Amino acid sequence: MKTAVTGIKPTGIPHLGNYLGMYRPALELAHHHLAFYFIADYHALTVDAPPEVRRELSRQVAATSLALGVDPTRAVMYRQSDLPEVCELAWILACVTPKGLLNRAHAYKAARDANLASGHDADLGVNVGLFNYPVLMAADVLILRANSVPVGHDQQQHLEILRDVAAAFNRRYGRLLTLPQAVIDARVATIPGLDGRKMSKSYGNVIPIFADPAELRRLVMRIRTDSRTPAEPKNPDTDPVFSLYRHLADADAVAGLHGRYRAGGVGYAEAKELLIEALEVALSEPRRRYGEVRRDHALLEAILTDGAARARERAAPLLGAVRHAVGLP
Ligand code: TRP
Repeated sequence: MKTAVTGIKPTGIPHLGNYLGMYRPALELAHHHLAFYFIADYHALTVDAPPEVRRELSRQVAATSLALGVDPTRAVMYRQSDLPEVCELAWILACVTPKGLLNRAHAYKAARDANLASGHDADLGVNVGLFNYPVLMAADVLILRANSVPVGHDQQQHLEILRDVAAAFNRRYGRLLTLPQAVIDARVATIPGLDGRKMSKSYGNVIPIFADPAELRRLVMRIRTDSRTPAEPKNPDTDPVFSLYRHLADADAVAGLHGRYRAGGVGYAEAKELLIEALEVALSEPRRRYGEVRRDHALLEAILTDGAARARERAAPLLGAVRHAVGLP
């Protein structure tokens, strides 16, 4: 059976964009892969946060994953920091990674370009953890000999760097590392937020996955639409209400509403009601499960501890082989 791995950064309340763009495709892979899901708490250290907040955010990711359908008896769910082999492999990989490759990584490049544009030193406020982020990510995947990495579009470059780093290691030390494929769901290129821009916490335009029904309704009512009257034909490709509906409703319902948009005769108010219904169908059960597990720290801890043991079992032989290949004891 092929192996898939994906990391989820614990950075805040999960929203619909995370669900459609990342959780849902990653969960689908579990049907025909041995799936590893980890909470990327080492990666989260590149951004400052209080320790207690970090611990709470990690628990939130674990609870979210369970609520959305990760089955811990089949898939392996763990905290990245419970698999310290990752850090050791990251260091070894860093030593075969050309610095120039990381200069071009977009998170670092964006920080540097912004600094230069405002007349600052290029590296102002940039820590080495941020710079090395792609190497740590490569270690996450390579340590498990994963074949598939389900990620959002924004992670495509990281996966390319990962493959370059693995190839550099293999050229130098022999073909120990498995080059994985990125699995990017083309259907969910961009999930629009309330204002039509990409749904993102930094734009303040998100719909939280576990919002209660009243909150969901309030947010959907705020989605920005144009001023076409119900009778006028509408463009389903640019309207955020329809774009969200398309990802949630079943194919027939989507085709039906698509036709009515083109023909005219459906108002945005009605489309929003349909979207609210579709959201309720998709999210009410996860919301209930989230409420059940999120305060159960003992349960979350037990699942994560078990997951870490299973991940370490798989990681240890590879790290041993890598250490031997590079000439460590
Ligand atoms: N960088 C990913 C993100 O920001 C999270 C991540 C860390 C990851 N390590 C990974 C994803 C390994 C896939 C595989 O979303």
